[in-house]
Amino acid sequence: MLVKYLAPAVLAIGAASAQSATSTCTVSGGTTTVNSQADATGLANCKTVKGSVVVTKDVAGDFQISGPLIITGDLKIEDNSKINSIGSETLEQIGGEFKISKTTQLNSISMPKLTQVNKLTWQSIGNPAEMGITQLNKVDEVTISDTKLRSIDAINVTSISSMNLDNNQFITKYEPAIKEIKKELNIHANGLDMEVSFPNLIWALNVAVSDVSKISFPSLEIVNGSARFDDNKFDSFSFPNLTSTTNGDISFVGNENMQNLTFPKLTKIGGGLLIANNTALEEISDFPLLETVVGAIKLRGNFTEVKFPKLQSVRGAFDLASTNDVTESCKTLEKLAPSKQGGNGKIEGTFDCESNNEEANEDTSGKTGSGQGTKGGSGSDKDSDDKDSGAAGLSVNVGLFLAAAGVLAQLLL
Ligand SMILES: *[C@@H]1O[C@H](CO)[C@@H](O)[C@H](O)[C@H]1NC(C)=O
Ligand SMILES: *[C@@H]1O[C@H](CO)[C@@H](O)[C@H](O)[C@H]1NC(C)=O
Ligand SMILES: *[C@@H]1O[C@H](CO)[C@@H](O)[C@H](O)[C@H]1NC(C)=O
Ligand SMILES: *[C@@H]1O[C@H](CO)[C@@H](O)[C@H](O)[C@H]1NC(C)=O
Ligand SMILES: *[C@@H]1O[C@H](CO)[C@@H](O)[C@H](O)[C@H]1NC(C)=O
Ligand SMILES: *[C@@H]1O[C@H](CO)[C@@H](O)[C@H](O)[C@H]1NC(C)=O
Repeated sequence: MLVKYLAPAVLAIGAASAQSATSTCTVSGGTTTVNSQADATGLANCKTVKGSVVVTKDVAGDFQISGPLIITGDLKIEDNSKINSIGSETLEQIGGEFKISKTTQLNSISMPKLTQVNKLTWQSIGNPAEMGITQLNKVDEVTISDTKLRSIDAINVTSISSMNLDNNQFITKYEPAIKEIKKELNIHANGLDMEVSFPNLIWALNVAVSDVSKISFPSLEIVNGSARFDDNKFDSFSFPNLTSTTNGDISFVGNENMQNLTFPKLTKIGGGLLIANNTALEEISDFPLLETVVGAIKLRGNFTEVKFPKLQSVRGAFDLASTNDVTESCKTLEKLAPSKQGGNGKIEGTFDCESNNEEANEDTSGKTGSGQGTKGGSGSDKDSDDKDSGAAGLSVNVGLFLAAAGVLAQLLL
């Protein structure tokens, strides 16, 4: 019985059925379990449900949870193969997590009043093509994974902690108004030719984007952690306003069409720089202001020219190998090599610069696990782990940072 989980306020349901939702119902034990539509109807007089609502695998067909405006805890529907639709005409806020996961027969979600959710997690939710939410203007963490949604434009926020979007085969465009990403942005393996644009984004802690054909970050100034772009299809990449990464790597691996890579304002990389196996990229010549790299620089590709005209300090190694002739570039860069290699020591780690190495594109290490999580095709790396992309991103940092730490250790001796 549902009623016995609720505080006295709700015991009046039967007596005052004409009354519309006015009460606060405290769910004892913090969670109420809903086994049927009738259980949910028992919540109709609760304006606020204080606690969480868990819909079990026994709930079948069309499910409505109308009455409540606020659920202070979570609303969860998991491992349910019988539910066809979920709706609420009244719900405005979910204070905890709105989780729908492994609902194989779900065809529709309809919550036109819902505007605030703390954490939205939708994974393997069946066949809804629309979100069924008009406008979510407050949400802190979003994970939308393995769905048939066509658009997530209803998520319209200016600040978010994390946005994880992967394996949604029909999402081909995403252009949110987000200004800050406080933890991470992960976009992988969505619709073919997906186009991504963040016209207002100013700073992000970590960014990892794969499998997109167009990308734009016109106003991004700071990446506090790392920025990582693997296996994309765009033909050029620019961070026109990025000045630094505070504390992490920049990496581009396996972007096979990328001809140009442009960082006109970048002065400092707080971690390492990895550019590998982007076979259409022949020149690394658009880092005009880059002065400081706190980790290592590792470059592998079909380069004919590589230049960093303002480079003042690389604390890790500088390691370049090209399938083409880069002799002229190597001569210029060699001047920055450590003094024991005859240079001026601006590069503190070992300096290597090699032309005509046919296997240059085969070394993409530093790419640990490639962070795609559910995406196949990678994971050949022995350092790879099966953790989520955030963790994989971190292990890249560690890899490139170690180079710098090794040098520091030498200096301290
Ligand atoms: C997003 O929200 C802002 C106000 O917060 C509104 O001006 C804008 O039109 C919304 N965008 C979309 C696509 O709904
Ligand atoms: C680029 O950054 C500067 C501040 O450094 C800012 O004034 C400018 O509006 C930014 N440009 C874009 C396109 O956002
Ligand atoms: C990231 O950098 C921006 C710009 O300097 C700053 O406003 C923001 O607080 C930083 N965020 C974190 C999480 O350090
Ligand atoms: C790359 O840059 C060159 C020279 O600036 C330009 O001619 C070419 O169109 C660019 N290619 C792409 C795909 O943007
Ligand atoms: C890159 O170099 C490899 C090895 O020389 C070559 O097989 C490949 O065709 C080159 N790719 C492009 C796009 O130039
Ligand atoms: C390099 O990229 C090509 C696609 O351009 C891919 O087929 C190949 O497996 C990649 N090599 C490595 C070592 O990642």
